[in-house]
Amino acid sequence: MTDRDFLAMEDWSPEEIGALLDLAARVKRGEVSGGLEKKVLAMVFMDPSLRTRSSFETGMFLHGGHAAVLEPGKGSWALETEEGAVMDGTAVEHIAEAARVLARYADALAVRAFPRGTDWAQEREDRVVRDFARYADKPVINLESSRRHPCQGLADAMTLREKLGETRGKRFVLSWAWHPKPLPTAVPASAAIAAAMLGMDIVIARPEGYDLDPDDTALIRQIARQNGGMFQLSGDCDDALVGADAVYVKSWGSLEHFGRPDDEAELRRGLRDWRLTVPRLRNTRGGKGVVMHCLPVRRNVEIDDAVLDGPNSAVVDEAENRLHAQRALLLELIGTRTTR
Ligand code: CP
Repeated sequence: MTDRDFLAMEDWSPEEIGALLDLAARVKRGEVSGGLEKKVLAMVFMDPSLRTRSSFETGMFLHGGHAAVLEPGKGSWALETEEGAVMDGTAVEHIAEAARVLARYADALAVRAFPRGTDWAQEREDRVVRDFARYADKPVINLESSRRHPCQGLADAMTLREKLGETRGKRFVLSWAWHPKPLPTAVPASAAIAAAMLGMDIVIARPEGYDLDPDDTALIRQIARQNGGMFQLSGDCDDALVGADAVYVKSWGSLEHFGRPDDEAELRRGLRDWRLTVPRLRNTRGGKGVVMHCLPVRRNVEIDDAVLDGPNSAVVDEAENRLHAQRALLLELIGTRTTR
């Protein structure tokens, strides 16, 4: 057992991530049983989930432990997240107490908190999950924050290794997609970090105005180079897909218009063609590029039916790997015996 948090993949070394992925593969093959008996994971969902919640609950159960799930404002007290807040509004309890109390009951905490403000300069600090980690004296797992979704990144890395075998030098294209709403950048940043840690050549294809946070772009470039991969930005989704070994389709909002959805909608008007279609997929390496998406996906908006239901699609495998990768993570963080 360790007192480490899992807030971002880059907080762990490529060797540590590699060891987690090796363990996840053993878990998936059925070679690891037990290890979380009498362990409790307290999960706090400030935002909805299908995969994250059900895969963590299942993982704890499969290894003999228990997951307690809280949804603040829906059966548990609405939480205040601002430090120094005068709590005369709707929030009943501060995360300072919530995190400390849950840490007395549980062996680890896990928190989902999407961005909800209007100021990216504040949101990019990832205060809610980081404050949970500061207040709790137990490991804290990020279930998706403003900046990162490391559990998704871990499952993405596992899927890339499974589908491609040797990942070094292979072409990973993160391809922006149109969507009716401006979505967070946590998934695309984490997916690119995961692929960069695997030594892949990273291409980010996005329209003008849709760059990731400059620090994230710089980090992805740095991690790619450190692991022997290249990094490239593209403004043309057709060109970017040529020769791709994996294409990760994801929509995200313009950070230049963060918190101003009407301005953002104006920017994305005319970008509906940024969608993965069968003709585009044919341009990937041998037409066999692995199609990835974190889910939930908007069919025929981000990716066409024929692609999602076709032979290249790995989106359900990716979702399955959430379970195995997180089982490995839980065993590493709070397991009762060494699994290496
Ligand atoms: N990919 C993912 O995190 O799915 P959920 O939002 O359903 O948990």
